[in-house]
Amino acid sequence: MEFVLVLHNLFRWAVVVLMVYALGRMVGGLVQKREFTGQDRKALSWFAISMDVQLLLGLVLYISNGWWSTLPGGMSQSAVRFFAVEHLFMMVIAWVLAHVAARGARVSRLAAAQFKRGALLTGITVLVILLSIPWPWAASHGRPLFRLAELWWGGLG
Ligand code: HEM
Repeated sequence: MEFVLVLHNLFRWAVVVLMVYALGRMVGGLVQKREFTGQDRKALSWFAISMDVQLLLGLVLYISNGWWSTLPGGMSQSAVRFFAVEHLFMMVIAWVLAHVAARGARVSRLAAAQFKRGALLTGITVLVILLSIPWPWAASHGRPLFRLAELWWGGLG
């Protein structure tokens, strides 16, 4: 499942770009006091869809790499606890929040209320995601920023 790991690693950047774009539109709309447009709705939807893809890839990894079977014995090792519990739990919360934000954008509301709701929900989601990514500088569970070496020089099992 090395290929899925590489995909999950790289697709994270699509999620990060789309979440920053969605948050930027929500905060920008609030500040500029403009109309809530179809493009704002789409920005929230694209972010939610990218989370669907990442959730699917993550679940494949979770099952195929047997993270579920490391519990409950592995709870005392921080790397195991991170991937088997914390990453899964926090990212599922982020996935739900991204969908709540995208769904709410389809209900008709005053533009200011729409942007405020979108900014709040997307802002919390962005925080949860940024705190739950295994950044390389995390001592116990750090992972590379880009798994490009595996793509170019093989090693994909
Ligand atoms: C939504 C539910 C998610 C699940 C169930 C999930 C699951 C997992 C699992 C099981 C691993 C460990 C891979 C291994 O077996 O070594 C992993 C790694 C990782 N996840 Fe997630 N994940 C999810 C969402 C996300 C999101 C939203 C992001 C970032 C936007 C993300 C970024 C990463 C990164 C960067 C790694 C390290 C990959 C590597 O080793 O190169 N995950 N994830």
